[in-house]
Amino acid sequence: QELKLSLEQIEKGGYEHFMLKEIFEQPKSIHDTMRGRLLVDEGVIKMAGIWDHVERFKNANRIIIIACGTSWHAGLIGEYLIEEYARIPVEVEYASEFRYRNPIITDKDVVIAISQSGETADTMAALKLAKEKGAFIYGICNVVDSSIARITDAGSYTHAGPEIGVASTKAFTAQLTILTLIAFKLGKHNGTLGNAEFMSLIAELDAIPKRVEEVLGTTHELVQNIAKDFVNATNFLYLGRGYNYPAALEGALKLKEISYIHAEGYPAAEMKHGPIALIDENMPIVIIAPKKGHYDKIVSNVQEIKARKGKVIAVVNKGDQQVSSMADYVIEIPETSECFSPIVASVPLQLLAYYIAVYRGANVDQPRNLAKSVTVE
Ligand code: G6P
Repeated sequence: QELKLSLEQIEKGGYEHFMLKEIFEQPKSIHDTMRGRLLVDEGVIKMAGIWDHVERFKNANRIIIIACGTSWHAGLIGEYLIEEYARIPVEVEYASEFRYRNPIITDKDVVIAISQSGETADTMAALKLAKEKGAFIYGICNVVDSSIARITDAGSYTHAGPEIGVASTKAFTAQLTILTLIAFKLGKHNGTLGNAEFMSLIAELDAIPKRVEEVLGTTHELVQNIAKDFVNATNFLYLGRGYNYPAALEGALKLKEISYIHAEGYPAAEMKHGPIALIDENMPIVIIAPKKGHYDKIVSNVQEIKARKGKVIAVVNKGDQQVSSMADYVIEIPETSECFSPIVASVPLQLLAYYIAVYRGANVDQPRNLAKSVTVE
C-alpha cells in the first residue's frame, strides 16, 4: 500500500490534531520542564535565573506578574503559589492594562512576564515600561531566544517543546510547573517553607507527570463521551475555588477559543453575585472540586446549582462521594496537594473543550479570528 503521509501528518505523530498531540505530550513536557532543575534525592531545586538574583526576589516590595491570555491564567496561579510558599506579595495584571495605566513601579519591584511565544506585543511593551522604571525583569517563555527572553534581566524557559495548536495546553502546564519550582525555591530560601514540607512537596511534584499520565488514561474516553452530550450547548459556566479558580478561567477560555461556545469562568463563591441567575436545566456547569481546597464550600455550591436544575460536570478526586452523588457527570482525578491540582484538573478540561469542538466540526488547531502569537496591539 502506498505510503501517503504528508509532512504535517508525520508532525502530528498519529494524532488528528496538534492540540490533541500536545495534550497527550504533557507528562513528557512537564517532566522536561523539571529536568535538571528538580533534584529530589538531593532536596534541591536548581534554577540559575532565580538563584543568581535571589536577594532581589527576597527583598522585593512585591512581584508583579504580567501576561495575556492563557499565560495570564498561569500568572494567577503563580500568585497563589508564591504568596503561599514564599510569602512575597504578588500582583497579576493583564499586560495591556498595565502598560497604559501609568502603574507605580520602583526599583524594589520584580516584574515577571509569562509568555509562551515570547513575542506578545502587549507583554513586551509592559516589560519595557517596567525596565525603564528600574524594576528587575524576569521572563518565563517557551520559545528560546524570543524577544521577551532577550530583553529580560534573567528568566527560566519552560522547555515544553514547540506548541502548534493555537489553544495553549502543554505550555500552560509547563508555566505552572516553573511557577511551582520558583515558589518552592524562594520559599525554602526565605525560610517560609520548612524543610520537611519542602521535601514532601518536591517529591509530589516529581510524580506529577505520572499523575497527568494517569488522568489522560482514565479520563480520555469518558470525557469524549461527555462531550457528545454538549455539542449543542450555547453557554457554559466553569467554577472553582482557590487554586482552581484560575483553572476554571482557563477551562472556559479553552472552550471559547476552539468550540465558539460562550463560556465563563468564575470563583465558585461569586456565583451568587450574578451567574446564579443564569442557571436552569439548559446551563452546563463544570465544577472543579478536589478534596483539598474548600471542598465543603463547593458542596454547597453544587447544591445550589442542582436546586436550579443546572447540569453539573464535576471534576473530583477518586472515591469522592458528596459532590459525585449530586453531579450529572463525574470526572475523577487523583488526589494531590492543593497547589498541584490545577495542573491535574486542567487535563480533562482541555480534553472536554477539544472533543466538543471536534464534534462541532470546528477547526481545532486554527480557530477563527485567533492567532498563536499576537505581535500587534
Ligand atoms: C494568544 C494565543 C493564546 C495565548 C496568548 C498569550 O491569544 O492564542 O493561546 O495564551 O496569545 O500568548 P503568549 O505567547 O504571550 O503566552
